[in-house]
Amino acid sequence: MTERNSITDTALHTTETITLSPDATPDTAPMAEGQELYDEQVTASGPHRDRFNLRSYFAEPEIDRSIHPVDPWRWVETAPSTSDLGVAESLFTVGNGYLGVRGNPEEGRDSALNGTYVNGLHETWDIQHAEDAYGLARVGQSIINAPDAKTIRIYVDDEPLRVSVADLFYYERSLDFRDGVLRRSLEWRTPAGKRVLIDFTRMVSLTDRHLGIEEVSIVLPEDAAPVVLSSQILNRQDGQDEFGSASDPDRFVATEGAPQGSVNTGSDPRRADHFRSRVLLPLLQVDEGEKIKLGYRVANSGMTLAVGADHDFSTTNDFYISSVAQTDMAKVQYHVDARPGQKIVLTKYFSYHDSRRASVNELMDRVDRTLRRARKRGAGDYLEAQQAWLAEFWERADVEIPDQPELQQAVRWNMFQLIQSSARAEDLGISAKGVTGSGYAGHYFWDTEIYVMPFLTYTMPQVARNALRFRYQMLPKARDRASELDQCGALYPWRTINGEEASAYYAAGTAQYHIDADITYATVQYARASGDADFLFREAIDILVETARLWEDLGFFGVDGQFHIHGVTGPDEYTTVVNDNLFTNVMARYNMRVAAEWVERLREVEKSYFEEMVHRLNLRPEEPAEWRTAADAMCIPFDGERGIHPQDAHFLEREIWNKDRGQPKRPLLLHYHPLTIYRYQVIKQADVVLALFLRGSEFSEKLKRADFDYYDPLTTGDSSLSAVVQCILAAELGYDSHAQALFRHAVYVDLCNLHGNSADGLHIASCGGVWSALVFGFGGLRDYDGRWTINPMLPEGWGSMRYRVQLWGSRLQVEVRADEVELECDSPVAVGLEVWGQSVTVQEGEKLVVKRPQ
Ligand code: BGC
Repeated sequence: MTERNSITDTALHTTETITLSPDATPDTAPMAEGQELYDEQVTASGPHRDRFNLRSYFAEPEIDRSIHPVDPWRWVETAPSTSDLGVAESLFTVGNGYLGVRGNPEEGRDSALNGTYVNGLHETWDIQHAEDAYGLARVGQSIINAPDAKTIRIYVDDEPLRVSVADLFYYERSLDFRDGVLRRSLEWRTPAGKRVLIDFTRMVSLTDRHLGIEEVSIVLPEDAAPVVLSSQILNRQDGQDEFGSASDPDRFVATEGAPQGSVNTGSDPRRADHFRSRVLLPLLQVDEGEKIKLGYRVANSGMTLAVGADHDFSTTNDFYISSVAQTDMAKVQYHVDARPGQKIVLTKYFSYHDSRRASVNELMDRVDRTLRRARKRGAGDYLEAQQAWLAEFWERADVEIPDQPELQQAVRWNMFQLIQSSARAEDLGISAKGVTGSGYAGHYFWDTEIYVMPFLTYTMPQVARNALRFRYQMLPKARDRASELDQCGALYPWRTINGEEASAYYAAGTAQYHIDADITYATVQYARASGDADFLFREAIDILVETARLWEDLGFFGVDGQFHIHGVTGPDEYTTVVNDNLFTNVMARYNMRVAAEWVERLREVEKSYFEEMVHRLNLRPEEPAEWRTAADAMCIPFDGERGIHPQDAHFLEREIWNKDRGQPKRPLLLHYHPLTIYRYQVIKQADVVLALFLRGSEFSEKLKRADFDYYDPLTTGDSSLSAVVQCILAAELGYDSHAQALFRHAVYVDLCNLHGNSADGLHIASCGGVWSALVFGFGGLRDYDGRWTINPMLPEGWGSMRYRVQLWGSRLQVEVRADEVELECDSPVAVGLEVWGQSVTVQEGEKLVVKRPQ
């Protein structure tokens, strides 16, 4: 066994002292009695038991398997989507975390939202508050639709291909998780009766961040016909396609002279904002024959963008080429005299570069370099590299459920979308919709730290590190925001692209101070699981210190001697601006303790870094002790009579939902005024229950059960961030069929459009939560302050499941079977952990089987 570096080892593996809630019992408490117990408890007499129960809201996910066959490695459709174009576009997105291309057809038409997204490419606007107040967010930020380089229109005998009306003899579209390629094959009988076979492939490179590649291959087996392929770049943000018609009726059509600014056309706060005036100011248009490029500046934000496309064309038919570049459109057209059986193949390489500082000219150069390299290497080379990249990814991250093929497909689809949203985000955040749509305006939320980061930390630590460094770089703005709100330390924005608070509704936005602790939590979790103490010691320690300062300053010691935090909103956005929100207080306590612990550790093991940090942050010697004092005195609300933790100081005083005969219209946020919602004990998403998971070692099994039983029936799950967390706790408590129902809901959130808004983009936090539900929920892994334990709860009906995690650079494979767990480690560093309370060490190459204790 290889010895780990002793300094970092000790540095990372000290267990924090924990204050347990009343009645706390060790974490290894016996498993619960199971589903019957849950049923018994939630239907037992209680104020809300028979009135309101999330489970009655579950629509059973339904998939038409004649159109979407089960395939463990692909999402497939065998007939063109007609009813829900927008959803299909989201589901078939290809992306790499920097660039995202929705699944719109190459020929452009038949799109609900023809979207291409460059992570972080946004417009800013002045938020107009109907009633202003000091410190409200000022700068609206919205991701914009980047010029569309995926369009390749196809004409045969001058008739356009348009799938919705075409006479099709064959059709299949698939997204393959092994090579990240979107494929579409069709056989079209033209109005003149000619058979045309067309194959499309599309990928966004995972190895070359700025590159996408499309290939179209056309053959008329029996006939001759003039064929035109018109490969385009179109500015759709400003509302027009090549012919001046609005391509997406839902997007705003630019109006000359209309006031600058944003207008959200509907009342759904989850949708993107639309603009009244031109967003992309055209600066450069380049037509170099088969290579075309357009350059823009974003009107208000000042960001710059260059997009270009170059082509390889091959055919034995006669053809000629024409090209043009205008302000909002550039195109290269291939005019072919197609003869029977003579293939036509067009390969299109497209590249995007954007910047907050660089000139468009410079970006044009970068686009040029990407395109030149791409043509030189060729599409085949990139495909191979993509396959290798994804093979490595699945090797690290795959979760297998061998006897559940339908779930297997859905699980892999979720994980594939996760990596597509994050892999190459690099110095950018990971937005709520990844790069799949414009919902939530492309903003970064706590979704990343609590829902996506665990997946990255335990499978792709380098990507996790990038996401955290992004938060580190945002620290100066978070400091400014704290001081604007009269607080010490740093306050991260609830939602943002550029680091400034963009949440116009402070009650469900800025008031979610818990984001500070969420970021700290993810940072420490990453450092402990990866062993990358260096990042924490050199940079991220600043995050810990500044967030701890914020908490100490925000809270106060009450006459009862406890430390209280007032006027905050927890994760549940149906209850806002409350005192002593349990989740917030538990996480703030953790934040202050862990900051003190790491500051001391730094002083012990890295003197020079410590001194630099003290100097940089003006850290007073007594600060860590002050944080500890506040943490130790933290008010953790507890209701002795009911034996549960109130969600906040006054939560239990609220009425039980009684409107609409106790069955609210959902989602509540679209049907009731916020004040109506705030008056009731009705929950949008897991709040107390999330604290029970994240800081699970601080609560006894008895209390977890009491809290879960109380809150679960009150939880509407109107946020897709909820079911996954409820699932983890349900699994831990042994509520098997309930956990399975929650899991099915989560895994199909987008595939079955269960929240009705997948057309606006995918629910990336839920995708991350699906991984967490598998690994932490059914797989039973916990990482409490660097102490790894596994208490699996394999769902009834599953023969086994296998997952992989990376702990301290060692890759561990965990196979869970009904009564045993098999562990395998493929790295020279042995892994020590506890399985069902038994301590084990897994050595390289060894298969270790641990039996469930009788
Ligand atoms: C949830 C938030 C989440 C946001 C973006 C909202 O509906 O309540 O917790 O951060 O969506 O996903």
